[in-house]
Amino acid sequence: MTVTREKLIDLLNEDLAREYQAIIAYVIYSQAIKGAVYMNIAKELEVHAGEELQHAITIAKQIDYLGGMPTNVPKEVKISDQAEAMLRFDLENETDTIRNYRERVRQCEALGEYAMAEHIREILMQEQEHQIDLATALGEDVPNMSSTVAQSAG
Ligand SMILES: [Fe+2]
Ligand SMILES: [Fe+2]
Repeated sequence: MTVTREKLIDLLNEDLAREYQAIIAYVIYSQAIKGAVYMNIAKELEVHAGEELQHAITIAKQIDYLGGMPTNVPKEVKISDQAEAMLRFDLENETDTIRNYRERVRQCEALGEYAMAEHIREILMQEQEHQIDLATALGEDVPNMSSTVAQSAG
């Protein structure tokens, strides 16, 4: 589980690529999701877009601090003409993001980068809110992540 600083730069760049993906997805989905049932969540997705931009800046700062160069490539954004499919893409991405940030907190702490771990914890709290918003809009429970290493490690 312990990583080098070089490896941490690579992992943070993957996080940054996921944040870009989230920004793009929320910008598009917040406008493309139609229908009275989805009115509230569409507004909420606009708020998410702004939060994801702040996350991207925070992660880019950490990469720069470690001596790396922030990536310019987002992860792929899936498109659908179905509101439910778009919400599901977002929910899957948030769950993936949360899994990664939980691991990143531990990796930062293992390197003695406690302030960085704290920044990522703050992002993590917002990602968990995003996950809840999306699961609620889909009428589902939040995905059970208790089997992940992150939670079993406490
Ligand atoms: Fe984010
Ligand atoms: Fe998010």
